[in-house]
This record gives sequence, structure tokens and C-alpha cells, in this order.
Amino acid sequence: MESSLPDLEAILLVGGQGTRLRPLTLGTPKPLLPTAGVPFLAHQLARARSFGVRRIVFATSYKAAMFEPAFGDGSAFGLSLEYMTEETPLGTGGAIRNAGEALDAGPDDPVLILNGDILSGHDIGAQVRLHRDRQAAVTLHLTEVDDPSRFGCVPTDEAGRVTAFLEKTPNPVTNRINAGCYVFTRSVIDSIPRDEVVSVERETFPGLIESGQLVMGYADRTYWLDVGTPSAYVQGSRDLVLGRLASPALPGPTGEYLALEGARVSPEAKIQDGTAVGARVVVEAGATVAGSVLSDDCVVEAGARVSDSVVGQRARICAGTVVRDAVIGDDAVVGPGNELQHGVRVWPGVELPERALRYSSDV
Ligand code: GTP
Repeated sequence: MESSLPDLEAILLVGGQGTRLRPLTLGTPKPLLPTAGVPFLAHQLARARSFGVRRIVFATSYKAAMFEPAFGDGSAFGLSLEYMTEETPLGTGGAIRNAGEALDAGPDDPVLILNGDILSGHDIGAQVRLHRDRQAAVTLHLTEVDDPSRFGCVPTDEAGRVTAFLEKTPNPVTNRINAGCYVFTRSVIDSIPRDEVVSVERETFPGLIESGQLVMGYADRTYWLDVGTPSAYVQGSRDLVLGRLASPALPGPTGEYLALEGARVSPEAKIQDGTAVGARVVVEAGATVAGSVLSDDCVVEAGARVSDSVVGQRARICAGTVVRDAVIGDDAVVGPGNELQHGVRVWPGVELPERALRYSSDV
């Protein structure tokens, strides 16, 4: 499937605050959150590499200092990595312009731009080829969703030319949306104003279309997920563990669950539905864990039931507690006999006493 694209450079946008994923993103930026056993970005890096990308510039801002220790010079991934940090966040367009300073590409060369929170199975090679063949200014990956009203939508003409970049509306004209992976001709990156806050979605793309430049859409319906919310993040990890999206970065075989080194899972516990079990996690007898992310060093005590949830690092789910569709922050302790569900988020370090909450959504 994957054709090689020698010498293609990429920019990875990783500077957002990830507000929708709080409290998980209070200590760790979204692109570094453990996903199916490795930092989320490892999946994107491995995938870009499989299409022939060799050099990637990270556009960092929020918690910028955490990226280089995680990925270094990229040699462990067969990549060469550079880091370009914004003093103050410049938005998606400003970040692309700033990171563009570190590119080697010539003015007519294509540059791949990836949002740092997307899991996608699309053929990056085909997207770049379309861009080259049509000599477009920008080529956007478009994905088709069942309910486009939650997104801005991107209509095209029969030849695939993008005709508008529309804001969210209850009556969208198409179910094609911006999938967060772009090919830019290098000179177009250089035309974005420097050191200014710019949004590609609200300013650059509509501006290019209005001025008559060629913006192409590469549309498909392969696997696609924006992991920006807790439930989507859990789903992404689950899909990778189950093998619904193949990732060269998965640190083990696909299956009902994936356990990292030092995890101690009782043979009398039941772990299923794509659960990722972090390093040194303990799951005691009689516990059930389904479709969840158990972060490093957390504990799920006897008889507890955890599903569709994230349990933060060193957090403890005490005996008999039910955690469903919830986020438990790092170092939090959920005492015995509680029942948390409906998107409840427990802040890092909070200690919930025994039987404090049942069917609650207001911790
Ligand atoms: P929310 O706050 O939950 O909306 O998440 P977010 O901050 O990641 O915003 P959003 O999902 O809209 O961002 C899309 C992509 O652009 C993500 O990969 C972000 O990391 C990245 N991004 C957003 N704003 C900036 C910025 O100002 N600078 C940089 N370098 N990247 C950004």
C-alpha cells in the first residue's frame, strides 16, 4: 500500500494545550500521552516513516521542553528530528510558519503537515502524489463522517478542488471534513505572516481559496480519529491494541490487551476489549478492566470494574469500585465502593473516601 516518498519533510503540530483532555494534559502534553503503550506521537512518527518521510520538524509550545527528552534526535525511529518552539503560542498557521524556518525544502517542494492528535490510516503517498500532479498550493486530507454538524465542512467540485472552508453549521453541505493532514508547497508556508497568531483553518485556507489559489481535497473513508477528547483518546488506544488500525509502533502483538514490562495482572482478573496496561501496573484478582488505558504504576484492586476509562499514573482504584467512561487523574485514589461514570473526571491527587459517590458526575 505504502509507496515511498524520498526526501519528504514534515512538520508536526504539537503545541496545543489539549484543554478538552484535562486533567490528563495538565502534566503531559496530549501528543505524549501513553497510547497503546507508547507516546501518542510514536504512532504518527512510525507511520510517517513508513511513507518515506525522513526529517520532521516539531512545532512545540505548550510544555515544549518535554518533547526532546522523549524523542531526541529521532535516530531511534529512523528519523531526523528538529524542534522549533514558539515563545507564545502562534496558532496552527503561525506554528507552521515558525517551524518552516527549519525546513530544507525548496520553494516548489511539497511539505507534509500533521496535526499531533490524529490517528489516520490514509495513504499519505497518494495525497502527496495528488498534490504534485495538480501542482496545488495546498492539498488537504478530507475524511467523511456520519455527522458533519460537529465539524467545519469542506466542499469540493467534481475534480476535487476545494471550493469553500465552512464553519460548523446545523445543515452542512457535505459530510467531508478537514482531517488535519496537509501537503503545503513550501513557498505557501513562507507566505504566512511571521511571528503572528494565525489559524490555518480560519485564515490561511479560506484566504487561499478566496484569492483563487488551487487548494485540493484528497478524500477517503479509511480509519480516522481525532483523539482530542477523553472518550476518543480511549477509543484510539483501544483500536490500536485490537489492531483496528495497524501501527508499526505498537510495542507488542495486537489482542484483547497489551501489557508493558513489569505489569502484574492476576490470573483471576479479566482484562479485555483493547485495554492498554502500563508498566508496573497491578490488577488484582476478580477485577474487570475493559477498553481502558491503565497508566504506569496504577493499581486496580480486587473486584473493581473499570471500563472505557483512563486511570492516571500511580492512581489507585480501590476494591469493589466501578469506574465507567471516566478519567482518573495521576495519583488520585478512588476509595472502595464508589461508582463513577458519565464522563466524570477526578483531578490529580484527589482522594475520594469510601462510598462517597454513586452515579455522580461532579467530582
Ligand atoms: P484543545 O485545547 O482541546 O482544543 O486541543 P489543542 O490545543 O490540541 O487544539 P486543536 O486540537 O485545535 O489543535 C490541533 C493541532 O494543532 C494539535 O496537534 C495541537 O497540538 C496543534 N496546535 C494548536 N494550537 C497550536 C499552537 O498555537 N502552536 C503549536 N505549535 N501547535 C498548536
